[in-house]
Amino acid sequence: MTPPSVRVFEDSAEASHWVAASVLEWIDSKPRPGGPVLGLATGSTPLGVYREWCRLHQQQGRDWSRARCFNLDEYWPLDPGHRKSFRTFMREQLFAPAGFDLARCAIPSGGVATESVDRHCAEYEDAIQAAGGLDAQLLGLGPNGHIGFNEPGSDPASRTRKVALAAATRERAAEAFAPEQVPLQGLTMGIGTILSARRIWILAFGAEKAAAVDTALRGPIEAECPASFLRTHSQVEWVLDRAAATTVRG
Ligand code: GLP
Repeated sequence: MTPPSVRVFEDSAEASHWVAASVLEWIDSKPRPGGPVLGLATGSTPLGVYREWCRLHQQQGRDWSRARCFNLDEYWPLDPGHRKSFRTFMREQLFAPAGFDLARCAIPSGGVATESVDRHCAEYEDAIQAAGGLDAQLLGLGPNGHIGFNEPGSDPASRTRKVALAAATRERAAEAFAPEQVPLQGLTMGIGTILSARRIWILAFGAEKAAAVDTALRGPIEAECPASFLRTHSQVEWVLDRAAATTVRG
């Protein structure tokens, strides 16, 4: 197994700038007739990357209209139009200001009925396959080591499915929702889905991520730390700021 590629930047702004350019360079180096296929993340971590992609569209005319996008996850149940849904987040932070074609941007729907969840998740996987698979996947990291909503205990072969959110994840989400309104579950691409991406960039910024970074990079590769499974993929870039990298050597 090749050792993971880890890049440490002075701060998250520098790191985000590098990731924004690195993903573009990668997708532009292998143009696909149907356009690039991106796996995208929500949370505060990718915001700097999205800001840069918006800037490139607005100031340099970068055309995103042919990109196909698949987001990692969504709260369930939750009205997709809810102000705190990941769908709303993506529209506001990236899709609208960077000129993506919304018809080509997929996010698991928090609005599907219980009896339709399994079919919805299977169709999500099929749509990724039909698009030719994920060329580039962006990831944030939960302080508990989760990726997407793949909480500790997740199977490395897991695919898109409904999951229970960990207490720690719900506590963090309570900053966005009223505490009693935080959804109990989510729909998420599985670890197997994420690992099927051709290249992966995982970003972690701030001291609250340092322990998870350390466990993921140096602990055992096991379900207790879902991000540790990224070490089984040869094309992953770990992109850290100094605060998240305090325990990372070299
Ligand atoms: C959330 C999301 C993840 C995200 C993570 C980190 O629960 N489901 O996809 O990467 O937590 O969030 P943040 O970037 O705000 O620290």
